[in-house]
Amino acid sequence: MEVRRRRNFPITSVIVFSLLNQVVNAGINKYPCDFPAIFNFGDSNSDTGGLSAAFGQAGPPHGESFFHGPAGRYCDGRLVIDFIAESFGLPYISAFLDALGSNFTHGANFATAGSTIRPQNTTLAQSGFSPFSLNVQWYQFNDFHRRVRTFLTQKDDRVFKKLMPKLKDFSRSLYTFDIGQNDLTAGLFLNLTVDEVRASVPDIVDQFKTVIKDIYDQGGRSFWIHNTGPFGCLPYVLDRQLVSAGPTDEFGCVGSFNDLAQFFNHRLKLTVDQLREDLPKASITYVDIYSVKYELITRATRHGFEHPLMCCCGHGGKYNFNLHLGCGGKVKIKGKDVLVGKACEDPTVRINWDGVHYTQAANKWMFDQIVNGSFSDPPIPIRFACYKQY
Ligand SMILES: *[C@@H]1O[C@H](CO)[C@@H](O)[C@H](O)[C@H]1NC(C)=O
Ligand SMILES: *[C@@H]1O[C@H](CO)[C@@H](O)[C@H](O)[C@H]1NC(C)=O
Ligand SMILES: *[C@@H]1O[C@H](CO)[C@@H](O)[C@H](O)[C@H]1NC(C)=O
Ligand SMILES: *[C@@H]1O[C@H](CO)[C@@H](O)[C@H](O)[C@H]1NC(C)=O
Repeated sequence: MEVRRRRNFPITSVIVFSLLNQVVNAGINKYPCDFPAIFNFGDSNSDTGGLSAAFGQAGPPHGESFFHGPAGRYCDGRLVIDFIAESFGLPYISAFLDALGSNFTHGANFATAGSTIRPQNTTLAQSGFSPFSLNVQWYQFNDFHRRVRTFLTQKDDRVFKKLMPKLKDFSRSLYTFDIGQNDLTAGLFLNLTVDEVRASVPDIVDQFKTVIKDIYDQGGRSFWIHNTGPFGCLPYVLDRQLVSAGPTDEFGCVGSFNDLAQFFNHRLKLTVDQLREDLPKASITYVDIYSVKYELITRATRHGFEHPLMCCCGHGGKYNFNLHLGCGGKVKIKGKDVLVGKACEDPTVRINWDGVHYTQAANKWMFDQIVNGSFSDPPIPIRFACYKQY
């Protein structure tokens, strides 16, 4: 007995030591983050039901490719945020504004279609932009957090406790952002020049910074931030023939608008660098979704898609897009409501869904590009986005 124990001791300790070593290294780059929830902020690129809850449903044929009916998304199916949730084995995130059928155990989505970073001075009816700007989304998050705190400290066991995240989850969750495009188009649609809109970018990214800091102050640590896409290639911008639009490039996109998007992205990136200095415990990933979208649109055929500038669900014109008769719109023909914005035959080979938003197929393609970190700064896969590692 004595002898055996002595002989075994060094061997065991070697095993224990090497195991320990593995665990220590793993802390940095081996174990994926265990995000219990996702809190999302943004516009229609990631709206899973917010605007529909507040201002009326995005009707058929939205949702037809996956949900077999309207699902609060401006898309024929899933959005990038849905694929992100799936990748963590989490359910799709409920819209904060959805009063019925929501379950916030694994997060909440504050995004609404038409949201801007800066508060708008016009109503949705006047301009088409959502009143749920990023600061309002933050008020909602703040109240959500406060109410979770209140209810979880009460002793009774009411049903909504089964619909809320745990209090400790707030610091372990992934906070995702995709917002900014509407701040730029809002100015352009008012006939501001590209230079005038450019001049507002520092203020826009400043207000973005404030919200990230506020979430950090409430315990948020892991941030996943998408930059803004090449909106100069989208039918709803191209079709307007804005006075501020310059010539189109070889791909049919308005180059000056895409340059504006890139200027915003450049400032956003500088803001992220600043935030990393200001918020020492945060891990912040900046995701270049612009390059992914631009690659897809400008080399559509190579990636198995066609008609990159034409929308799938729309009506008429060069881009199959009509501002006044959008996807799901109806007209009366001989006293009957007829659905005008019929979807194209095969949305799986199309990039643009309704003139503004991407198809599920495009969203899936984009997700596949960004999930492994190829377009991220720092270049680490999303499942490691909780590690501060620059
Ligand atoms: C709304 O109006 C306020 C006060 O005039 C101004 O400071 C702000 O920049 C305006 N917001 C936008 C998005 O133009
Ligand atoms: C909400 O979702 C969680 C996790 O999926 C589940 O455990 C819980 O029972 C759900 N709540 C209700 C009321 O169904
Ligand atoms: C922008 O300019 C166009 C063309 O001059 C004009 O038709 C449109 O009404 C203007 N839009 C706004 C919001 O002033
Ligand atoms: C990331 O995924 C994309 C799409 O599947 C692939 O083309 C790319 O090579 C991958 N990059 C890395 C670094 O694994």
